[in-house]
Amino acid sequence: MEKEVIILGIESSCDDTSAAVIRDGVLLSNVIASQKVHEEYGGVVPELASRAHQQNIVPVVDTALKRAGVTKKQLSAIAFTRGPGLLGSLLVGTSFAKGLALSQGIPLVEVNHLQGHVLAHFVEDGEGREKPAFPFLCLLVSGGNSQIVLVKAYNDMEIIGQTIDDAAGEAFDKCAKVLGLPYPGGPWIDKLAKEGNPEAYVFAKPQIAGYNYSFSGLKTSFLYTLRDMLREHGVETVDELAERIPNLREDLCASIQKTVVEILMKKLRQAAKDLRINTVAVAGGVSANSALRAAFIDYGKRYHAKVFIPPFSFTTDNAAMIAEAGYFKFLDGQFCPLEAVPFAKTKI
Ligand code: KG4
Repeated sequence: MEKEVIILGIESSCDDTSAAVIRDGVLLSNVIASQKVHEEYGGVVPELASRAHQQNIVPVVDTALKRAGVTKKQLSAIAFTRGPGLLGSLLVGTSFAKGLALSQGIPLVEVNHLQGHVLAHFVEDGEGREKPAFPFLCLLVSGGNSQIVLVKAYNDMEIIGQTIDDAAGEAFDKCAKVLGLPYPGGPWIDKLAKEGNPEAYVFAKPQIAGYNYSFSGLKTSFLYTLRDMLREHGVETVDELAERIPNLREDLCASIQKTVVEILMKKLRQAAKDLRINTVAVAGGVSANSALRAAFIDYGKRYHAKVFIPPFSFTTDNAAMIAEAGYFKFLDGQFCPLEAVPFAKTKI
């Protein structure tokens, strides 16, 4: 009988410490410790993130192994996120992975975080979800990235479009901050938008060639709209303005959300049309957005396309996707040397 392949995945690229175990391609556990420490600063503080990873990593890995019913000695390899991400954070996961691999005498597999997000669609979690067939287009939208990825195979991906400035999640977070909403603002925008009118406000949309995105102008347009309203009403804060304009925050959230989703879908639609690809997927933190999920479903119906939307548990950073990517690489015999160092920025 063939020996089982058991992969431990470790993810520490930003502010979530996560560990997952996959046996012969089937997910056994996926543990995520989020870091609350950043909330009061309105954004991730890199130094605090790496310190929190140091505190979390041992209990998170331990819990993932216990939940999977697997011991360290049974592991075939350790997959870890090498980049892109925050260097200090990546260093914690990378060093831990190296130490554990060395102590157990098993190989290390490096995983590109962005490829991990795409491969989240292949995690076998017992729900019997269909997997996308190659080639497909994946809209990868998170706090740090907005890309259209042409996925030709597990190990063959090409970025055909990406943001030239802010990411979609960043735009949501920055607009939310201006409205005085907590960090991360994306989920708050989503929540308030449900009570708002998406046609209430109109924001400038970028005119960028090809499949690239831009969100910094949109953020400025949002800011100016609010600034003009403050002037008009002779008030200084958003709270004061909200007392004068009913449903202010809800309408602004619904309108900005609609605009971001329209910008994202327009380029994806164009790319799918040009490349004659009718399978599209969405991945990354912003794929939790209800309007974006609805737009994908609508796209599928309208264009008779196959659409793949990840379950909520795989939208944000998680180690299940890293273990999955690591599993494919393990089968291909793609290992990484102990000297490997993390990287902050990379292409897919
Ligand atoms: O992939 P991810 O967890 O990691 C980073 O890239 O950091 O993405 C986080 C991003 C944040 O910008 C957050 O505001 C956004 O995803 N996000 C959302 C929603 N849930 C998370 N944006 C809009 N609507 C949501 N429901």
